[in-house]
Amino acid sequence: MSELNLVLLGPPGSGKGTQGERLNEDLRLPYYATGDILRAAVRDETELGRTAKGYMDAGDLVPDDVIVGVIAEALDSEAARDGFILDGFPRTTPQAEALDAKLDQLGRAVGTVLLIDVSDEEVVRRLGGRRTCVENGHVFHVEFNPPEREGVCDIDGSELITRDDDNPETIRNRLAQYHEKTEPLVGYYDQRGVLRRLDGERDPDEVAEEIRRTLATMRLEQDEDV
Ligand code: AP5
Repeated sequence: MSELNLVLLGPPGSGKGTQGERLNEDLRLPYYATGDILRAAVRDETELGRTAKGYMDAGDLVPDDVIVGVIAEALDSEAARDGFILDGFPRTTPQAEALDAKLDQLGRAVGTVLLIDVSDEEVVRRLGGRRTCVENGHVFHVEFNPPEREGVCDIDGSELITRDDDNPETIRNRLAQYHEKTEPLVGYYDQRGVLRRLDGERDPDEVAEEIRRTLATMRLEQDEDV
């Protein structure tokens, strides 16, 4: 069976993290979420974190060379040999080209890109009510996916907070960045025949079910082509 080299694409708040967590559990593949990696670096006050913080707080993208190195190193690891899930990377055309170059070097390629489609209005509703756990980044929503105990993560018991970049002004800039810099990747991957669009404005369980069906169909098609 072919390896699963999977990219989750979509605007901020489309549910990449929510679905990524589920996929991580289902598929047992390494899951690299660049936002989580960068937030951990900011928290640990590493050099990467110090570089990234100002960009993240403003809702801007960190420079390509900063993030490309992080992902290239991850994909070189033994853990990613049988496949991987990328969430939040690539986010620009130069990042997508760097990813292709890295995978090409390893004799591999991006096999599946899932675009989770959500309107700007829905993004604003979702991010305003999002709560994120401080320890491991588990994601909840005060209305759509509330934790059992207010302010406490169901999974690891740590505190739930509102992310620094989930304020109205920063959300607007993150959306603008998405439309300008990340949306061109829809065409980039569509041309390569690996893109599948999903309606992200449904219940998370329904989105997860469609992802399962889509992956199963794509794997069958890819195995037939081998
Ligand atoms: P990152 O953390 O990746 O932020 P993002 O792309 O803006 O995505 P989010 O994490 O906000 O949303 P999500 O799609 O994961 O949605 P979620 O599942 O949480 O990046 C942060 C920053 O890091 C960037 O701004 C940038 O500065 C930097 N960065 C990261 N990667 C970079 C890169 N490659 N290059 C340069 N810079 C980079 O869901 C959102 C909410 O909705 C939750 O409350 C959830 O419970 C709820 N929800 C989810 N699904 C549903 C549903 N189906 N129905 C109702 N509610 C739902």
